Amino acid sequence: MANFYTEQTNFYGNSKPSDLLREFGSPLYVYNEAILRQRCKEMAGLIKCPGFKSNYSIKANSNLELLKIAREEGLHADAMSPGEIHLLLAAGYKPEEILFVANNVSAEEMQFAIDRDVLISCDSLSQLRLYGRLNPGGRAVVRFNPGVGAGHHEKVVTAGKNTKFGVNIELIDEVKAILQEYDLKLVGINQHIGSLFMEGTPYVESVKSLLAIAAKFPDLEFVDMGGGFGIPYRKQEGQERLDLEETGRRLTEVIESWMDKYGTRIRIKMEPGRYVVAECGALLGTVHTVKYNGNKKYIGTDIGFNVLVRPAMYDSHHDIEFYRNDSILKSDITAAATVVGNICETGDILAKDRELPEACEGDLIGIMDAGAYGYSMASNYNNRLRPAEILIGLDGSPRLIRRRDTFDDLMRGFV
Ligand code: LLP
Repeated sequence: MANFYTEQTNFYGNSKPSDLLREFGSPLYVYNEAILRQRCKEMAGLIKCPGFKSNYSIKANSNLELLKIAREEGLHADAMSPGEIHLLLAAGYKPEEILFVANNVSAEEMQFAIDRDVLISCDSLSQLRLYGRLNPGGRAVVRFNPGVGAGHHEKVVTAGKNTKFGVNIELIDEVKAILQEYDLKLVGINQHIGSLFMEGTPYVESVKSLLAIAAKFPDLEFVDMGGGFGIPYRKQEGQERLDLEETGRRLTEVIESWMDKYGTRIRIKMEPGRYVVAECGALLGTVHTVKYNGNKKYIGTDIGFNVLVRPAMYDSHHDIEFYRNDSILKSDITAAATVVGNICETGDILAKDRELPEACEGDLIGIMDAGAYGYSMASNYNNRLRPAEILIGLDGSPRLIRRRDTFDDLMRGFV
């Protein structure tokens, strides 16, 4: 029997899906605070070494209210752009709680972070040189490429040879020369091997390589192991969770024995994004059309790839629930259907040829595990309005945390 996530977790709290859409419009991003806090706690406590700190990689979801909750739960943050730094400062993060993981940035963008005392991780020799010119004598961070990659799709594997990221391990001498030339102190090194692993081994192995690099730099204050922790997107098929306890235990062991060997106590950090926010988010929408083209059944919704791009971009799977009169459709009678949105491209697909209950026009649809890389990758393509975002609080009541776009938003910026 399939597993119905929103029922198990009382995801919508005191509200019914139809009430939420009536009040806040369709489609709608819904976040559940209790689940968010739970995931933050799991990351914050993953490794048992003193001084361990997890950052939250806010590219996954940068809603201001979620950022505040993550901070309350003890997470620090990493940013990919001046815009993300701006949001983090607005959410109350202190500069020393932010790491700017920069990639191919301009001198102005680096200066933006330097002016705000935010540390910058440089991921090429030329960017490290640029940093040295802008901030001679400063504290530097370098992102290394440990040579091992992992991820759910080739587009999100961010270490190894087929990626633009990181400084190759063979270039350590050049890194040292640049540090010396600009009198920089290398206080941290980081890596990010890729996104969404469900088994800890590649991560643990990459941490060993990173620690081997760390041993070559005596001034280090921290080593940041990156993100990538996966979540089970196929809960309805009974997919197992990543074994965090086991992964945390193995990491703690590797790190402690390294620290004992080198007699040092540096701070260990990591940068998960997806794990923190994916499962606290569901995307609610409406079924507007059920039709056949030849034998092929299409379920047409108002959730285009401008709202959730992951299935179109990476062929990603998200579990789907349908609601009729606010009850989950649990019929054992299913049919293969392709669930699509309202954007003028054939690739505007949420789920392809999936066995699903017989949804009708007027039913509501819920896309599960949409909290990470959902809204943050949403756009106004086709001049569609990005949806509102709401938070189901610990008391079960809904609260608007970002309003839906308006036509005025579409006109903004024209001169
Ligand atoms: N640190 C760095 C330097 C990163 O580039 C990323 C993600 C993270 C941390 C967080 O990774 P996570 O823990 O979320 O896997 N849009 C894609 C995922 C792109 C990930 C990009 N980098 C998706 O929807 O699957």
